[in-house]
Amino acid sequence: MIDTVLDRIDSTQDAALERLKQLLRIRSISTDPEYAPDCLAAADWLVSELSELGFDAARHDTPGHPMVVARHSAPGPHLLFYGHYDVQPVDPLNLWDSDPFDPQIVDGDMGPALRARGSSDDKGQLMTFIEACRAWKDVHGTLPGNLTIFLEGEEESGSPSLVPFMQENKDLLKADVVLICDTGLFGDETPAIVTRLRGLLGEELTITGPSLDLHSGMYGGPARNPIRVLSRVLSSLHDSHGRVTVPGFYDDVPDLPTQIKQQWDGLDFDHSDFLNEVGLSELAGEHGRTALEMIWSRPTCEINGIWGGYNGAGFKTVLPSEAHAKVSFRLVGQQDPHKIRESFRAMVQDMLPADCTVSFKGHGASMASEMNTDHPVFAAGLKALSDEWPKPAAFVGCGGSIPIAGHFQRILGMESMLVGFGRDNDAIHSPNEKYDLRSFHKGTRSWARILAELF
Ligand code: BES
Ligand code: MN
Ligand code: MN
Repeated sequence: MIDTVLDRIDSTQDAALERLKQLLRIRSISTDPEYAPDCLAAADWLVSELSELGFDAARHDTPGHPMVVARHSAPGPHLLFYGHYDVQPVDPLNLWDSDPFDPQIVDGDMGPALRARGSSDDKGQLMTFIEACRAWKDVHGTLPGNLTIFLEGEEESGSPSLVPFMQENKDLLKADVVLICDTGLFGDETPAIVTRLRGLLGEELTITGPSLDLHSGMYGGPARNPIRVLSRVLSSLHDSHGRVTVPGFYDDVPDLPTQIKQQWDGLDFDHSDFLNEVGLSELAGEHGRTALEMIWSRPTCEINGIWGGYNGAGFKTVLPSEAHAKVSFRLVGQQDPHKIRESFRAMVQDMLPADCTVSFKGHGASMASEMNTDHPVFAAGLKALSDEWPKPAAFVGCGGSIPIAGHFQRILGMESMLVGFGRDNDAIHSPNEKYDLRSFHKGTRSWARILAELF
């Protein structure tokens, strides 16, 4: 029977692509309030798509953007699928080769790809699962098994409504296991199951010096310049070995178990390609660690934005009143984002000279998570993926953050199996984001195989 479903997926590719394009035309940028109506439209589009497929689907409004929950009851194990329909902002718009919300087929390094904001993160990915359900239904006359689909519209803006929604809707969301499609392949031939995710802590800081912008000739020297203060603070966040200097930062960071290190060292990963592909050649970061180890098992601190003074055309001799930065920490093990936030703030405060003040704004705080791969869903996933792709599937880590996996564990007691088909060169969050048609097609086939193993 699985072959019939796979054949059905193969023969309906064009229609599947058209449906994905419809979703990609909706400008569901969650972080910008101007696009709230578009987020609503994306949720409504999904509700109608899922209802038409035979799910009992509804939009659940929240103080932020709505959740979509779709249910198909049947006997057997209960699976919950999660994806997000919101996307990142498109700026800088001038670097796109076409309208981010007018999906285009372009030539890629592995055949045709679909270029649009959200094509890879995460609309194309979530549609692989929905399309697998559709093909299943076309062949079997009924949707696969006992299934809930849960789609969020605030993932790219820190999921402010998610935890309250989960706590208030435990009965709606409680299942035996979660499937998440929001990650990538390990290699072009090698699919991956992500078994550990890093946590994330965001901090925005504003350092204020003089009460107004000053002429740097009249005041430079005697007057304190907050950009200079900010630069000193930011440059002191790492030591000469690439370690983060925030007090207590490494307290809850476990050593990587030898067995996992060996498994990762055995993966076919080209460390020089990894940097060369983005125009770099030398490994920065903590001394004595491989790139994979750094990304998958070590915590980091990065400066994501810095501004202040005059940034327009030409030149202005200003001594600014304020300086700003956005700093984020990726967390591992048991690192507590709230504890690290307090420690970071105290450290900055302690570095301030007279006449300077600092204010902070927190942006999300989530812990890392690790999956228990003894759960039988992982064996089923490995088998199904290995049947579809040229090389066997690998357990991998993920440098990015998908906080919901940890919330599913802690609030609802559910393990998540993270399977995705994105590639490193998909340019997620960047101009010209794309999703290979091969990812979309083989991703859909992969889910059909996984569902066949599980039901
Ligand atoms: N899908 C990504 C996470 C991801 C990134 C998985 C790279 C695999 C490779 C997700 O949508 C994302 O962007 N997460 C954010 C955190 C979120 C709270 C804004 C991240 O990792 O920065
Ligand atoms: Mn995503
Ligand atoms: Mn993202």
